[in-house]
Amino acid sequence: MTISRRDILKAAGAGLAPLTLSALPSLQAWAATGNPLQLRAGPVRQSLRPGAATSLWGFNGSVPGPVLRMKKGDTARILVSNALPNDQGTTVHWHGMRVPNAMDGVPQVTQDPIPTGASFAYEFPLVDSGTFWYHPHQHSFEQVARGLYGAFIVDEDQPITVDREEVWVLGDFKLQPNGQQVNDFGGAPTLGGGGRLGNVVTLNGKQVGAKQGLELRGGERLRLRLLNTATARILKLDFGGLQPMAVAFDGQAVTPHPLPAGYLLGPGMRLDLVIDAPDAPGQQFAVSDTRDLGLRLATIAISRKAALRNKALADAIALRPNELAEPDLNKASQHFIVFEGGVLGKPAIGLVDGKPSPVADIMKKHNLYWTMNYQAEHEHSLMHTPLFNFRRGESVVLKMVNETEFEHPMHLHGHFFRVLKINDRATPHREWRDTVMVSPKGSVDVAFVADNLGEWMFHCHILEHAAGGMMGTVVVE
Ligand code: C2O
Ligand code: CU
Repeated sequence: MTISRRDILKAAGAGLAPLTLSALPSLQAWAATGNPLQLRAGPVRQSLRPGAATSLWGFNGSVPGPVLRMKKGDTARILVSNALPNDQGTTVHWHGMRVPNAMDGVPQVTQDPIPTGASFAYEFPLVDSGTFWYHPHQHSFEQVARGLYGAFIVDEDQPITVDREEVWVLGDFKLQPNGQQVNDFGGAPTLGGGGRLGNVVTLNGKQVGAKQGLELRGGERLRLRLLNTATARILKLDFGGLQPMAVAFDGQAVTPHPLPAGYLLGPGMRLDLVIDAPDAPGQQFAVSDTRDLGLRLATIAISRKAALRNKALADAIALRPNELAEPDLNKASQHFIVFEGGVLGKPAIGLVDGKPSPVADIMKKHNLYWTMNYQAEHEHSLMHTPLFNFRRGESVVLKMVNETEFEHPMHLHGHFFRVLKINDRATPHREWRDTVMVSPKGSVDVAFVADNLGEWMFHCHILEHAAGGMMGTVVVE
């Protein structure tokens, strides 16, 4: 089903029927037993919208998979088993978590794919608190698009005081009229353009709409964790008059500040908000994606019951920051990376999978559309030529320059970076992130300390772009 303007207006006019926030299963029992958590990737049938059930792939029988929830300082022990059809290998990447390289879940780079019928034990210390997620890194443009993902929350040792906490896992699916997925994963037309967009946007595995959401009492304080798992859809968030405070980007604390209007939550990104419900009994606030047509994601309604308190909690909402090494900007080595290509531009190619290649061959022969510093690689090719080599402990300033007509949410594994400048203008909060949006013809300057040993992926989180060449590695030695 496609989302028409009429549906949106209809939804907007609908009364406040009871709101249902689809609850997510969660897994946290491991701590009590000491046994590893088990995540099993396999086929799932699930109704994303009323009517036909869709054949999907999920973890532990659901899409999204269970919310993993542990505490900072604990050690995660997770046994991932592969029950996917058609003999297809998989891995799990713990997006945003600063894990030892061998636990990063990247096929060909950090491990061999887990074959069908086999399993792999991941074990890593949880060095950061925050909102993270997990997903396969093998054929991620297909495996993530089919539903293999879930949220991974690491609690602070001293959390902020809230009355309630919710996790909204947003995603999208491209369905045929019969409810089954369109089988065009990684198709050539999506690789070099805006990626593969779904036609059904979901919140916690159910189609979004005015009836999704939650009800707050006046004065109630909510911590809302948002995660965009879509392979390509960029969400432009609007809270319809509520004024959420941003307290973390990609899991890392940021100075609390009002969420800027039209905030872009790109694929892979997370956002932690604190919302103090106004004392406005019966009022409803639409949470929307205003990027394309305008789409209601959910409703936050204020209950008609007596307010929980008559003024907002006085407790501070600033999260305690994690221990991230501060880059020394005076001593930092300076680097740049240029993105080129896409259907509206042309790739500037020197190397394909590490070998010199004529420009004329890149699209036709190699089915690649993008280059990063004149290199393009097939997803996890064995021939990866690192984009950069850093010494362990080196402070690095990296300027990303986007010469294409498309946005690219760029993600670095194993590290967080400070965002210093966007389009050459200093950022007000110099926030830490693991994924940053680089606008068309724009630039972003980041800085970090390369302190995690190993070979790490650096790629666009529009997963079709990653498959189309925007995937490379950075070595810390
Ligand atoms: Cu969310 Cu390299 O991945
Ligand atoms: Cu991209």
